[in-house]
Amino acid sequence: MPHHLMLLAPSANRVYAGESSTLAAHELQISAPFVRGIEATTVAGVDYLGFESDPLEADQLATLARQSAVLALFRAEGELLAPIQLPDALLLDDDLVTIPKYPGKTNEQFTRLLANVTLASIRRPANGPRSILDPLCGRGTTLTTAWMLGHHGYGVEGDEKAVEQMSAYLKTWLRRKRLKHTAEMTPVRREGKSIGRRFDARLRSARPGVELPAEQLELTVFTGDTRQSQYLYGKKTFDAIVTDAPYGVVHGAHQTSDVRGHAGKRDRSPAGLLGEALPVWASQLKPGGALGISWNTHGLAREDLAYLMRRNGLEPQEGPQWLGFGHRVDSSINRDLMVAVKEDQ
Ligand SMILES: C[S@@+](CC[C@H](N)C(=O)[O-])C[C@H]1O[C@@H](n2cnc3c(N)ncnc32)[C@H](O)[C@@H]1O
Repeated sequence: MPHHLMLLAPSANRVYAGESSTLAAHELQISAPFVRGIEATTVAGVDYLGFESDPLEADQLATLARQSAVLALFRAEGELLAPIQLPDALLLDDDLVTIPKYPGKTNEQFTRLLANVTLASIRRPANGPRSILDPLCGRGTTLTTAWMLGHHGYGVEGDEKAVEQMSAYLKTWLRRKRLKHTAEMTPVRREGKSIGRRFDARLRSARPGVELPAEQLELTVFTGDTRQSQYLYGKKTFDAIVTDAPYGVVHGAHQTSDVRGHAGKRDRSPAGLLGEALPVWASQLKPGGALGISWNTHGLAREDLAYLMRRNGLEPQEGPQWLGFGHRVDSSINRDLMVAVKEDQ
């Protein structure tokens, strides 16, 4: 039996239809390089993810506690399993990301997985929270996940209603949890013209007993086209981009996660949007920063996305550990993820 056994949350299987241990194993391999010999293990009819490691230090336990599918951790002592106390590694209660339910929402567990493997790929030193941009942020699952993990979240979203709904939800949630914060929506003007709105929230306390990693965490969203992201954010650059691309399918009767092409016309080709948006996003990444994206492989092959990345100075991460994330979402969506790192100039 391996020395350590990670019990996975049952909800992970609802997201990945039986593939949760494969995804969790790949996430662990990438984001927790201090573990070895990861393997699916069954003990008394219950499935675990087993692994070996040297005695676990506090920061390593925190990394394990932040895994997207972890429920509990055990150390094997002969035939017995001894529970290991995981630290409180999340700054906020996880109902922040689980309460909102809407068509087109990216599952919160998958969002955390994508954030974890992207953050683990950044090749620049960390001095405090990372800045994470989601340039297709919807109602902000990536941004609230960033907060939970102790980072700043920034977004761009074309659907103004989605930004309004996120703002209303976040304000209510922060008030109900009695957290110190500010949150407001304001108009955005450029050269005397109104071009949309922005939502700004600042978090100044975490849940009881948990320290914020900085004086405050920022969360900002601009309404607008993602291809205007650099125009909206100006000179600001980011340590990471984490985004779930539109799938090119309609979600529900009224809401769509379609892609807006030129002049606001609907363009159902996510590949076309990515071709135009990637140069903009790449320019907003700091050198050594990482871009993690999930997308529907039915609309765009992995090699074609890798080609688009390289053309924009982003080097896709390679190796078998990166090829185990593909999974079926439904009959029209097969989701995969890719992380690429901006080369140092
Ligand atoms: C897959 S959804 C992301 C959902 C988000 N992660 C969440 O959980 O709410 C893709 C989002 O991209 C937005 N979108 C599509 N084309 C866009 C564009 N050209 N500019 C800005 N946003 C766009 C859609 O409105 C949608 O909210």
